[in-house]
Amino acid sequence: MEKGSHNSAPRVYLTRQFPEPVQSILNPHFNLVMNNEKTPVKRDELMEQIHEVDGLLCTLNDKIDKEIMNNASNLKVVSTFSVGYEHIDIRTATVKGIYVTNTPDVLTAATADLTIALMLSVSRRIVDGHNLVNDRQWNKPWDPSFMIGSDLNNKTIGIIGFGRIGRAVARRAKAFGMRIRYYSRSKASNQVEMQLGAEYLTLERLLAESDYVTIHTPLNEMTHHLINSERIGLMKRTAFLINTSRGGIINEDALAHALMNDEIAGAGLDVFETEPLGESSPLLKVENLVMTPHIGSATSGTRYQMGELSASNLRNVLFGIEPLSLVNNDVRVVRPLNERKNIQNS
Ligand code: NAP
Ligand code: GLV
Repeated sequence: MEKGSHNSAPRVYLTRQFPEPVQSILNPHFNLVMNNEKTPVKRDELMEQIHEVDGLLCTLNDKIDKEIMNNASNLKVVSTFSVGYEHIDIRTATVKGIYVTNTPDVLTAATADLTIALMLSVSRRIVDGHNLVNDRQWNKPWDPSFMIGSDLNNKTIGIIGFGRIGRAVARRAKAFGMRIRYYSRSKASNQVEMQLGAEYLTLERLLAESDYVTIHTPLNEMTHHLINSERIGLMKRTAFLINTSRGGIINEDALAHALMNDEIAGAGLDVFETEPLGESSPLLKVENLVMTPHIGSATSGTRYQMGELSASNLRNVLFGIEPLSLVNNDVRVVRPLNERKNIQNS
């Protein structure tokens, strides 16, 4: 196989620096062109670079829309270093025969762990407690009515979106002694429901009956602002809302209003409608809220595996072989992979 420095090797653009093993997988085979910054590539730079590129490795910060793809006459694969792919125009990619790949499974455990961490942080007031101690405000002896929180044990968790991460949260919640209810686009098999002790409810019933509501759907036209003021109004006043999926699924103004008026007990958010969160966000004025800066998959082991999977996906498509995780299956009809076997031998 030719070295990446060879001019005839396929050209691959990396929209930023990625953790290893991305470069060690791609470098031996391709001409790597890279935005050398640790920050996302600017759009005009991407527009310029995409022109003669065969493969693109991007993140959820990079909007890969029709305009970008129209400028990419050689593009065969967009590999995103994320499981979510709402930043990519999948329809256009498919019509153009561009394979879109993502990084499912390898980040499921880390994201489910963070979901439980947010549930515990907000319900057991861990951040409030830390700040109190750290601010030297812990100035009275142990008190039976001090910093009282809520249990997980014997409470009901309502999981919205019962896919990989939703089910991993269910497994963890089961270990905490919680009752498991879910709402999803499709009902799980009886076997999965039995294994997890999970019961399917309508969204309205799930919101009304849960002590913890946690969101794990992708962001799309159907789920944008799925959680609005009317639906928050169905939740118990004692319930918590957790979101480690995408910010746009919750109407943040409605959530901030509900938290300020104690319409629900609290929230834990890892994702926001605009990231980073702007100064003017009403969420910054709310107290019963724990926030993290989109770190669901941020462990060294997970990021290594995301690098391995995203780079392998890209390499496979350019070699003309099956990627490990393909988003747009229909693209195979438009441009079957075996047509590209010649790339492997170039
Ligand atoms: P997944 O396995 O595809 O699960 C998504 C689930 O949502 C599926 O069960 C799907 O139903 C369901 N769903 C889709 N549209 C729906 C709708 N309109 N109403 C109700 N349910 C719907 O995805 P995943 O791997 O669990 O990841 C979920 C999301 O987590 C990703 O899309 C990403 O946005 C987010 N995420 C965030 C972080 C972070 O850093 N915070 C990390 C990883 C992932 P079907 O079974 O019918 O398809
Ligand atoms: C992170 O948010 C992802 O979609 O992988």
